[in-house]
Amino acid sequence: MDLDRRSFLKVALAGCATATIPKLSLAKSSDGFMELRAVKGEARLYGDKGGPSPLWLYNDRLPGPEIRVKQGERVRVRFINELDEPTSVHWHGIRIDNAMDGVAGITQPAVQPGERYDYDFVVPDAGTYWYHAHNMSWNQVPRGLSGPLIVEDRDDVFSPDTDINLVLSDWRLDENGVLDTASFGARHDFSHAGRLGNWLTVNGTSLPDITLQKDRWHRLRLINVSASRILDLAPERLGAKVIALDGQTLSEPRDVPGIVQLAPAQRMDLALRPTEAGTFPLEMMTGQPFAFANLQVTDAGGQDGPLRLPPVNSLPEPDLGDALELPLEMQGGAMGGMRALMRDRTEDEVRKMIQDGQFWTFNGVAGMHGEPMFNARRGETIVLESRNDTGFAHAMHIHGHHFRVLEQGGEPLEHQDWRDTFTTQPQETVKIAFVADNPGKWLIHCHMLGHAASGMMTWFEVV
Ligand code: C2O
Ligand code: CU
Repeated sequence: MDLDRRSFLKVALAGCATATIPKLSLAKSSDGFMELRAVKGEARLYGDKGGPSPLWLYNDRLPGPEIRVKQGERVRVRFINELDEPTSVHWHGIRIDNAMDGVAGITQPAVQPGERYDYDFVVPDAGTYWYHAHNMSWNQVPRGLSGPLIVEDRDDVFSPDTDINLVLSDWRLDENGVLDTASFGARHDFSHAGRLGNWLTVNGTSLPDITLQKDRWHRLRLINVSASRILDLAPERLGAKVIALDGQTLSEPRDVPGIVQLAPAQRMDLALRPTEAGTFPLEMMTGQPFAFANLQVTDAGGQDGPLRLPPVNSLPEPDLGDALELPLEMQGGAMGGMRALMRDRTEDEVRKMIQDGQFWTFNGVAGMHGEPMFNARRGETIVLESRNDTGFAHAMHIHGHHFRVLEQGGEPLEHQDWRDTFTTQPQETVKIAFVADNPGKWLIHCHMLGHAASGMMTWFEVV
């Protein structure tokens, strides 16, 4: 199934909804903890014409409530699990204290039904981040367990009314417009491109109106919370500039021609100053371009001057002259990818892997093991050269650190951006570097959540 333009438009004609996430400050208890509850809920993803979808939500909201703090501040969240299965909360992209990273089974025990867990951490970097479930993520995240985590610059250059979150999510709906839950965990999805949906929502609504003001600079914070869908965007068609990637502000606003891909878990902040009032589609370029939100530009009076960017975060610069260089070979999956697995294994071994639902490997190893992929001395520079020897794209995420993307396809990149998630296309090589400065056990995994569950997950330890 693919994003279906025709059914998408049908709902568009049925009427539009406005979907800005309320700037919700979570109810705080007397000890300063905000309450975040994972609960069962529902939403009409297909608009009024579709039935209600059974979802799992944070505080009964889709997406979860925006958690918004200032850079350097402390986030205190009392998480309460009201679901029937264990879960945990991961703070994606935050260079966090390891004990608060929220990885069930690695940095904390999973939070059992009816139990609670206190998260308490400092956010060192400003930018656009998000939080999501991190236990059986393939099953929990695409049912709705995610939300935005916004860290404001100490001196914010965008005023609150021009600072807009766009949480993008694809869903697999059945013919009644209801979330298809029967196909969660399908082996075919795991061994191919992952669970892809056929429906797209922005802040939980399909084709919402987003109100902007003429002649003012806006910051659009795009967050792709999809389980597997890579989104093809074209910021230049709107005259928007890219100003941040994965939370990290660029040193200068950037005009990027053509399609910019936003992979699962990635974020991209755009700066946009509309020059006329009216309605403008925000378009997805997958197949035939189609609108996924309508920008309603109103005349507000007043005009902003030149674009100013917030300061860049200070991240530790990799020392390429003295680095631990390691390969990260990806193998497996359907479409011929299993062949590589056959080279070093007997037929029985491969059959056993498939039976166990393990379709992918990093450096020949499927899934988590007692031993880390590598150990790093604190402060050591790590260079990973990943080679995608599979038939599918992957979105690789490293916990607790941001890295520079140095090379892609064997060529040094013009912009060696900081990221926490990089994409690699079939048969492509990508080289990244980071300083392993954060002690603890950190995951490296594909953020196509079905891939992570079927082999593409490993870890390293900083000591
Ligand atoms: Cu956003 Cu391990 O994940
Ligand atoms: Cu993958």
